[in-house]
Amino acid sequence: YENKLIELKSKIKSFTDFPRKGILFWDIFSAISDGNTCRLLQNLLVQTVRVKYPEVEAVVGLESRGFLFSFSLAAEMGIGCIPVRKKGKLPGEVLSYKYDLEYGSDILEIQKSVRPGLKCLIVDDLIATGGSINAAVHLLHDSGAKVLGCLTVIELKSLDGRKNIPHGVPVHSLIEYE
Ligand code: PRP
Ligand code: MG
Repeated sequence: YENKLIELKSKIKSFTDFPRKGILFWDIFSAISDGNTCRLLQNLLVQTVRVKYPEVEAVVGLESRGFLFSFSLAAEMGIGCIPVRKKGKLPGEVLSYKYDLEYGSDILEIQKSVRPGLKCLIVDDLIATGGSINAAVHLLHDSGAKVLGCLTVIELKSLDGRKNIPHGVPVHSLIEYE
């Protein structure tokens, strides 16, 4: 497991000054353009979920990069795949959560059809400030769902996004950068 994590880490490229000056962008797509790395990452995620969250009933992916992992995990495990999307993208009745960004704010939404008590795992490619995952936690709590935890491929340690996630909701990342 540890060797696979080291191999995965070696495949993820970073880009300086993207999407804005001063930002170092960790590009998950650079890793998964290679088929062996796709399989490696999928195996690591599945193994992590089976060990840490064996009771999970649905994987909740955050638009858009989180969808890569929510569907592949859900399909492999034969459990539900639920989207959290940016405002105005989901049909039917939705719950909304507004949160602050460095400049301005953003709104994430979930459909009201989530079953109360459903045991959910939130997945995304990366946790930075934790704002997106925190929004997803609130949306699921408002739905009456049970949030087992959050799983990301990458964690940017220096931003300490964990402090923004409600207490009692575990966060697990496969690999860390400063
Ligand atoms: C990025 C990344 C995470 C989020 C992390 O998504 O994919 O979802 O930001 O940042 P946070 O922890 O500070 O909330 P982005 O909103 O850029 O959209 P994308 O997934 O559609 O590329
Ligand atoms: Mg994203």
